[in-house]
Amino acid sequence: MTPWEVKGEVDYDRLVRDFGTSYIEQSLLDRVEKHVGKPHFMLKRKVFFSHRDFNWILDKYEKGEKFFLYTGRGPSGDTHLGHLLPWIFTQYLQEKFDVELYFQITDDEKYMHDRTLTRKQVSDFSYENILDIIALGFDPEKTFIFKNTEYIKTMYKISTDIAKHITFSTAKGIFGFQNSSNIGMIFFPSLQAATCFLPSELKGKNIPCLIPAAIDQDDYWRGIAREIAPKLGYYKPAQIHSKFLPALQRGEKMSASKPNTAIFTTDEPEVAEKKIKSAFTGGRDTIEEHRKHGGNPDIDSAFQYLYMILEEDDKKISEIEEDYRAGNLLSGELKQIAAEKTKVFLKEHQRKRESAKKTFDKFILRD
Ligand code: TYM
Repeated sequence: MTPWEVKGEVDYDRLVRDFGTSYIEQSLLDRVEKHVGKPHFMLKRKVFFSHRDFNWILDKYEKGEKFFLYTGRGPSGDTHLGHLLPWIFTQYLQEKFDVELYFQITDDEKYMHDRTLTRKQVSDFSYENILDIIALGFDPEKTFIFKNTEYIKTMYKISTDIAKHITFSTAKGIFGFQNSSNIGMIFFPSLQAATCFLPSELKGKNIPCLIPAAIDQDDYWRGIAREIAPKLGYYKPAQIHSKFLPALQRGEKMSASKPNTAIFTTDEPEVAEKKIKSAFTGGRDTIEEHRKHGGNPDIDSAFQYLYMILEEDDKKISEIEEDYRAGNLLSGELKQIAAEKTKVFLKEHQRKRESAKKTFDKFILRD
């Protein structure tokens, strides 16, 4: 796994061990509940399963020191449901803790990483992706979305402070750069790390940072930002990590670079329905076998979409899970439930996306 590619099935326990992170435990859920009420279903269901220093963020919060949220998007294509997963959770954190969010659009990264992408394409995807972000209901007063190529005047100073402390050998060890890697990509991690310190720099005081994202982005925090923070006099950024929404096919993550693995926010609802109907199933080969032995929701893409993102109601999701395991609910029936939910979600999201065009400018941070 690198920030640019996740191959095959992911062993999350191994990542927790190798990256030295902590599991989200009940005591942490209790602490969240104390402040903001019932924890989000993604926390309870361990979709967000791992963290680093989230307890420290809450310690600070309890002492009246507010944190800010930081997350981002590399605009290499249309937004898919997997991208929305950490963003929906980020919106919940913003609303409940009433905090600022800095949202980085790494248009430089994607332009340099993928030789086939033109400037125009990256710029169009940036715009389209930002509509998806705004559609999720972030607070316009407290949300600052910026594109690296536009906001570089402010970002450059912090990035060079960081880059000065990172050798090529370290970057190569973390990100697997080769002699054939372009030099833009070698510098790029310092820009993704820089946002961890941006509000502290802008406001002239240290502000704790919490990053909600899938675990594929951890290299930047573990390897760069947290290493450099003490050298520059900043707090180390904290993280909360999600699992990956699976692809339509078995054993991969949903990925924009492989369009046939994904449901896009711009898909016609009927197209999304067809995709779900052809998704990988944990059902048995025949109805008789399924009724007798039951299905396996753990590997069933339609079930995972419901569990991880679409069905908020805990009671409903447990009933679906039990019925599927018991063989009472057939794979086709499960897919129908997921397809209906997806269609409703997409129609609503596409409506909000349209009205985001009107509020777009309110969210954009410029120097
Ligand atoms: P990008 O555009 O690859 O991904 C955007 C966000 O979506 C998450 N993600 C997923 N989450 C669940 N299931 C999936 N199948 C899935 N695929 C992607 C990613 O973890 C990410 O949170 N370089 C970054 C942009 C960036 C960023 C950040 C991301 C800049 N600063 C800070 C997170 C936090 C990128 O290309 O993300």
